Amino acid sequence: MEYLFQNGDIGIRKMEDNITDYKLIAKWLSTEELLDYYEGRSNSFDLEKVIKKFAPRAKEEEAVVPCIIEHNQKAIGYIQYFIIEPGGYDVGDSINMKSYRLPYGMDLFIGETDNWNKGIGTMIVRSLISYLFNNKNADIIFIDPQTWNKRAIRCYEKSGFIPMIVIKNREMHDGEYRDSFIMSVSYEEWKTNNEHIPYL
Ligand SMILES: CC(C)(COP(=O)(O)OP(=O)(O)OC[C@H]1O[C@@H](n2cnc3c(N)ncnc32)[C@H](O)[C@@H]1OP(=O)(O)O)[C@@H](O)C(=O)NCCC(=O)NCCS
Repeated sequence: MEYLFQNGDIGIRKMEDNITDYKLIAKWLSTEELLDYYEGRSNSFDLEKVIKKFAPRAKEEEAVVPCIIEHNQKAIGYIQYFIIEPGGYDVGDSINMKSYRLPYGMDLFIGETDNWNKGIGTMIVRSLISYLFNNKNADIIFIDPQTWNKRAIRCYEKSGFIPMIVIKNREMHDGEYRDSFIMSVSYEEWKTNNEHIPYL
């Protein structure tokens, strides 16, 4: 197992190209409670669909780096990060991606839903932000929750992300176009607010 980091009771490891990890994703992405917030009930995943979408990532054939979130050594969710290529992240004209040296994006869900609202998401997001700035040389990181997902937005704000803009009708979720809330944190903003926190 390749860990990005382990910090107390939480850890993030790279997703592996094996049936155990694909089955975890298939279990989570077929749970209606989670689908209501991620992908939508109309986009449930069986094992075959998981392998089709996630195997190229786990085999490092795609730029997205897929990872498993662990809590007390148990797999509880999924997080991914990626370098944002110019034009590869639909943020309209108001953000000039070319003005950044190395912008990253991230995205996550906690699949074991009894772990929601316990501060775990905030710890995970803060840890990955820190990893991307300190180990991957990112100069800014973006995240794009849908505007109705108040818990995700609150979690990202607590983690250090700052609201930038709303983009109307950006993503389809259960048959309806939904607005996205684009949030970001630059290395300077992160350093200013987190100087007292040692790197994990
Ligand atoms: C989004 C997610 C990763 C957040 O992780 P988490 O561990 O549940 O979040 P945390 O407990 O760290 O923080 C949640 C915050 O939102 C608040 N919150 C919860 N429900 C809320 C609501 N309906 N409205 C406003 N705030 C809400 C919590 O009170 C908490 O804030 P507080 O500490 O100030 O009280 C997790 O809930 C999840 O996986 N949800 C389903 C999938 C999803 O939405 N993924 C994100 C896609 S962008």
